This record gives sequence, structure tokens and C-alpha cells, in this order.
Amino acid sequence: MSASPVVVITGASSGLGRGTALEFAKRHAKLVLVARGAAALQDVVAQCTAKGARDVVAVAGDMADRATADRAVDTAIARHGRLDVWINAAAVSSYGVFWEQPPAEFERILDVDIHGYANGSRSALRVMLRQRSGTIVNVASILGEVPQPYSAAYSMSKAAVIALGRSLRSELSLAKSPVHVVTVLPPTLDTPIFQHAGNRTGRALQALPPVYPPTDAVKQILAAWKRPGTPERTVSGAGRAMVRQHRRHPQAVEAAIARQTELGQFRKAPAAQTSGNLDSPSGSPLGVTGGWGGRRKQTGRVLLLAALTAGTAYVIRSRRDQRG
Ligand SMILES: NC(=O)c1ccc[n+]([C@@H]2O[C@H](COP(=O)([O-])OP(=O)(O)OC[C@H]3O[C@@H](n4cnc5c(N)ncnc54)[C@H](OP(=O)(O)O)[C@@H]3O)[C@@H](O)[C@H]2O)c1
Repeated sequence: MSASPVVVITGASSGLGRGTALEFAKRHAKLVLVARGAAALQDVVAQCTAKGARDVVAVAGDMADRATADRAVDTAIARHGRLDVWINAAAVSSYGVFWEQPPAEFERILDVDIHGYANGSRSALRVMLRQRSGTIVNVASILGEVPQPYSAAYSMSKAAVIALGRSLRSELSLAKSPVHVVTVLPPTLDTPIFQHAGNRTGRALQALPPVYPPTDAVKQILAAWKRPGTPERTVSGAGRAMVRQHRRHPQAVEAAIARQTELGQFRKAPAAQTSGNLDSPSGSPLGVTGGWGGRRKQTGRVLLLAALTAGTAYVIRSRRDQRG
């Protein structure tokens, strides 16, 4: 592992991508940062330089476009001659009932959140296979394992990202390549994604508790770079418990998540219809955190676990009752 790794991060202007860039900067990494908003990227470039990055350059572009991924790889190779880590964290989302959501918005989410990740992985592999080293880190979500209502396209995309990682690992193993692919599955993080999201529900959005600090996911991304042999990293004990429970009792956990979404994802205020940042960078502030954390929100952790436990217990009890 290089002391000054060459790292490409997509979605680096906001939230988890931005937090990850700052942590790699502290470790004197050489960074290539990708997002659509050029001005916001320049701000992160300055912050990363101040934190100790050896070199930082911005590549402004849309990850749904294959050329953006190629430009980022070419930039890394032109400046440093190698690519050690590629982190796919650029994603968009929009909330709405499946059959009410404009189809073009649904397709755009799949384009950015699935094809964007495939584009990044393909371009990174072009170099990593040749140099016989490197790690791709794909940020998925717990929602890829346990889908959420009002987020069908996003949940589908995250399931696809988990599948992409599994497929790539099997192909790399057959090719006897030492390149790694690690999938990171965060729960709700305190980032501005909820300010950026499209919204077709008519209700104002908030982060669904339990809300975790983005640093919890950044730690797992850094661990994926240092110890890439672990193929999937689920962030937080509650997240791991949820995935486990869902495998055992899918209906009960899906019902619990649906209830939890109704209770926790929306504020009382009405909200205008918006496509958010699906087609162009957000006008909302960009930072690592979104202002959704804090101690009061953490009571949601207890609520979620209580809902999961109650839902699961209910199903188990009904099954026993049916058996007589
Ligand atoms: N926050 C959560 O609760 C949570 C939970 C689980 C997983 N995740 C995942 O974590 C990752 C980061 O999300 P976040 O919460 O940090 O979101 P965020 O704050 O909204 O940041 C998204 C980033 O992606 C960039 N981006 C969006 N569309 C793009 C496109 N087409 N091409 C290039 N860049 C694009 C945005 O910049 P521009 O708009 O300037 O392009 C921004 O830098 C995503 O994969 C998300 O799905 C988040």
C-alpha cells in the first residue's frame, strides 16, 4: 500500500464523498475529485490542499457519461502514472410513489446510480488490470438489501451496486487478478442528500432515523483501502442487524421499514414538487454534513430497533398461531 495513494473520488463535492476526500487528504493522498459542480469542487480542492493532500485536481463532469470516468482515470495516470483507489460515491435520489414518479426521473436515477458506478469501475479497471493492483470501493446502501418505500429507483440501484461488486469479484477471481472490489453499505447518514433529493411526495423530507455521522462510513471506506480483502462492509451494528433480520424475516422487516418511513422520513410541512439535483448540481449548500444529526435524532435508533423487533415478533407469533 502506497504512503501517498492515488485516489479518484466521485461525488466529492458533498456529503460522504467530500468527507472521504478530506480524510484521504490528511493521509497525504494524491486526489482526483469528480462531481458536476465545478465551483463546489474547487472549494473541496482548496480544503484538501490545506489538510495535507500531496496533489489535488478537479474533474467536473457527469458520471452517467462514460467520458467523465475516462477523463478522471487519464488525469490520474497523466499526473502520477498509476491509480490505487477508485471510490464511487456520486449518486442522486428522488422520493415518490413508483407509479406517480415521472419515468424520466426514474430512469435518470438508474443512469447515475447504476451506470455511473459501472462507468467508474470499467475505467478504473482499464488501468488496475494492467498494473495488477488497485481497489474499487463502491458506496451502496443498506437500502440495497432492505428496500424502502418511495425510493424504488434508488433501492434498485443500490441492489444493483451490491450485485456489481459480487459479479466483478467473481470475474477478477477467474482472471486471477489481485485487484479488489469492496462494497460499503451505509445506513442513513447526516449528509445534504435529503436537501438535494427530488421529491414527488408533497411532504417535506428529512433524514430517516437512525441518522449516523458520515465519518462512520468514511472509516469503512478507509478500512476498505487498507484491508480490501473484506468484500462487503455494512456500516453500524444496527445496519448489520437490519440486514440479518431481513434475510430471516423479509416480510416483517419490510413492513417495519414501511412504517418507519411513514413515521420518520417526512416533516409535517408540505413541499413543492421538485426533481432536486437529478439533472444539474444542487443549489443547496454543499458540506460534509446536512444538519440532520444530533442527540434527539438518535432516539430514532431505539424506535427503529423497537419497530423491527416488534414486527419480527409479530410475524413469528402469527406463524406459530397458524400452525396451531
Ligand atoms: N446520506 C445517506 O443517508 C446515505 C445512506 C446510504 C448510502 N449513501 C450513499 O452515499 C453516497 C454519497 O451520498 P451523499 O449522502 O454524500 O450525497 P450528497 O451529499 O447529495 O452528494 C452527492 C455527490 O454526488 C455528486 N453527483 C450527483 N450526481 C452526479 C452525477 N451525475 N455525476 C457526477 N457527480 C454527481 C454531487 O455533486 P454535483 O451535484 O455537483 O454533481 C455530490 O458531490 C451515495 O452513493 C449515496 O447513495 C448515502
